[in-house]
Amino acid sequence: MATTFSAKNPYSSKISENRLLNGEGATKETRHLVFNLPDEGLEYKVGDALGVIGENPIQTVEAILACTGWDGQMQVTTHNGEKSLRQALLTDVEIHRVNKKFINSLLERIPEERGMMSARITSRSRSSVLGDENNSWNWSGESDDWPDNYPSISQGSSPRAIVENLTEDAEAMENYIWSRDYIDVIEQFGALHSPEELLGLADKLKPRLYSIASSLDAHPGKVELTVAIVRYEHHDRLRGGLCTVYMADEVEVDKTPVRIFMSPTKSFVLPADKSTDIIMVGPGTGIAPFRAFLEQREFDSGDGRNWLFFGDQSEKTEYYYSEQIESWLKNGTLHKYTTAWSRDQAEKIYVQHRMVENGEEIWQWLSNGAYFYICGDKTYMAKDVHKALIQIAQDHGGLSLEDATHYFEKIMMREEKRYLRDVY
Ligand SMILES: Cc1cc2nc3c(=O)[nH]c(=O)nc-3n(C[C@H](O)[C@H](O)[C@H](O)COP(=O)(O)OP(=O)(O)OC[C@H]3O[C@@H](n4cnc5c(N)ncnc54)[C@H](O)[C@@H]3O)c2cc1C
Ligand SMILES: NC(=O)c1ccc[n+]([C@@H]2O[C@H](COP(=O)([O-])OP(=O)(O)OC[C@H]3O[C@@H](n4cnc5c(N)ncnc54)[C@H](OP(=O)(O)O)[C@@H]3O)[C@@H](O)[C@H]2O)c1
Repeated sequence: MATTFSAKNPYSSKISENRLLNGEGATKETRHLVFNLPDEGLEYKVGDALGVIGENPIQTVEAILACTGWDGQMQVTTHNGEKSLRQALLTDVEIHRVNKKFINSLLERIPEERGMMSARITSRSRSSVLGDENNSWNWSGESDDWPDNYPSISQGSSPRAIVENLTEDAEAMENYIWSRDYIDVIEQFGALHSPEELLGLADKLKPRLYSIASSLDAHPGKVELTVAIVRYEHHDRLRGGLCTVYMADEVEVDKTPVRIFMSPTKSFVLPADKSTDIIMVGPGTGIAPFRAFLEQREFDSGDGRNWLFFGDQSEKTEYYYSEQIESWLKNGTLHKYTTAWSRDQAEKIYVQHRMVENGEEIWQWLSNGAYFYICGDKTYMAKDVHKALIQIAQDHGGLSLEDATHYFEKIMMREEKRYLRDVY
């Protein structure tokens, strides 16, 4: 059946369940979200992703209106047509992070003769979500404690000098925009733009994709997600990811309309032959499509064996879907389940370490035609899991480094299409 809903024509759904998956004492917030589907026009298969169109928090919109003095009722035109400024700031542009285009545009607006500015940065700390030491720093606010890798903005510089420095130094620009939204910049440089200019310069609000965590056969009329909520604090204000904070905080269960659409996959699919074994590696929110795969494999009741590698910070707080996983282990849907709790002991244990420990058996499964799937972090995890596979082929298949690389990257991935990734 042809899908009638799309990114351009999204379905207005409602969230019927919003459940915290973490246990007490967790340092992260991961939620299970269930959306209602229409009777037709929005079907999906396991492996597909759901597009969600978020909105900015009303408090951020009101804060922009307050610091600029603009009237929220005034009519403006955006790429989505004519509407009130308040509505445009809510739904049409990304206002939670300032962009480079806006900073660059300040140069045309700040005259040199405006003189010295009074703004003074008081103190701050920044830490990378990726745990990269080079991207982490703290500053107490004292002039003799200026961090080495902080953008070279000196206190007391003129507004123009600050902006010039940012436009000439890419790293300083990245550091500056990392922790600021339009409110920070307008407060620092004044409301230099008209509403239309701000709306034209800010990024258009983009949908976010989420790997679907359910099988439609197991949950008719529903689509379910496993979502890590992005929250952080900068310059004494709580902030966060546009879409995750919207779903977690702004959307009222069974009440608020949420615009969604399907993003089907051609490649990240279950083997057509239900007797084929599969190995799934999905730490963190990477478990999402594998919950869907397991629900589908249970529904289809084929002979293929299923092996799941899951990991996160701690078994006590991040053992997502534990009851369902335990029941799959009992009823034989899940043949092997291998966990890597990274912070339950002094040294980090990640899924790839568990793979290497189980290398001989993984090699047997792969040699017998098993499909291999990875979902989750693209930047580090997926690369490390790939390296572990190559090591396993060398250790247990007797392949050279070159042959092992060829086996996974050419044969399994491209020719046989049984090494599949859904990474982000
Ligand atoms: C195919 C696909 C499948 C996906 N599946 C899932 C899934 O199943 N579950 C899931 O949770 N996500 C998934 N994602 C990621 C998801 O699409 C979003 O990117 C994610 O939820 C963040 O969206 P957001 O709008 O809340 O955050 P955004 O507003 O987009 O902000 C995220 C950005 O915030 C920045 N950031 C993070 N911490 C800080 C900080 N301390 N200071 C400043 N900036 C910071 C990061 O650089 C990051 O780029 C998937 C992505 C893709 C492409
Ligand atoms: N590319 C991206 O930008 C990206 C991708 C995925 C997630 N995220 C963001 O990160 C936040 C949490 O995501 P998440 O809940 O899915 O979990 P996650 O941060 O991916 O962590 C899941 C598990 O993976 C471990 N891990 C860290 N580095 C690893 C590596 N190199 N190899 C294997 N495992 C590794 C983590 O351990 P430790 O934490 O103990 O080190 C944790 O146990 C969210 O805000 C999400 O949006 C961003």
